[in-house]
Amino acid sequence: MTGRRTVRIYGNWKMHKGPEEALDFFQKWSLPPAGNRCECGIAPPFVSLVPLVHLAKEKGLKLGAQNCHFEEKGAFTGEISAFMLKEMGVHFVILGHSERRLLFGEDSFFIAKKLRAALQAGLEVVLCVGETLEEREQGREKEVVSEMLNASLGDVTRDEIVERITIAYEPVWAIGTGRNATPGQAGEMHAFIREVIDERYGAGTGTQVTVQYGGSVKPSNVEELASVEDIDGFLVGGASLETETFADIIEKTLMVKQLR
Ligand code: PGA
Repeated sequence: MTGRRTVRIYGNWKMHKGPEEALDFFQKWSLPPAGNRCECGIAPPFVSLVPLVHLAKEKGLKLGAQNCHFEEKGAFTGEISAFMLKEMGVHFVILGHSERRLLFGEDSFFIAKKLRAALQAGLEVVLCVGETLEEREQGREKEVVSEMLNASLGDVTRDEIVERITIAYEPVWAIGTGRNATPGQAGEMHAFIREVIDERYGAGTGTQVTVQYGGSVKPSNVEELASVEDIDGFLVGGASLETETFADIIEKTLMVKQLR
């Protein structure tokens, strides 16, 4: 079953790289596209999306956004709709990232509305879930992740989760801290996420969904994480900002997953 899942390695640039720096990264990018069972991409800030659309196609990278609004248009000052992103040539949107949840007060019900809008607009979605250190220390990490997942998925159908959604397990304590989850911790949660999906959508569904790991992924730890069968790629923050480092992460993942 694992053999059929698409491996996805996406960079989340957060609030880094304006149009000029973003273009420079894409111009330097020389890694050939990875083949049909692997997708690689970058989610730059909104303002850097437009100048990258053509280069992204040329270089075989998927372009993603880091957020979207749930309405198609209207009086929502400062917001950008999923439909606008689609029109621009964006492929995926990251929703439910812990920085959006914790710094901008987004809860899972709000995220579910965005998710529905993103799917309606024709985008793919990377849905992030993950526990805080406190929740893990209290032994509540599975309860928290399952609640987040169930509430954020809203009315998503079985076909949608299999074909258009990637789940990213990102423990909050591992994001930007240099301290990644161990392969054991990540593997256990990824298997659990598949169980939650099975419970919701029927046995056998979970094994068809791509589940990425995110949190301090770098060239030095990517091979041991990629060798966990249930880890189908990565959502990479800091280490996706340099072409060499991000290319190294992709190459190593492809080698371990035997896709090169
Ligand atoms: P990091 O961020 O790789 O810098 O830890 C990951 C993320 O927030 O997606």
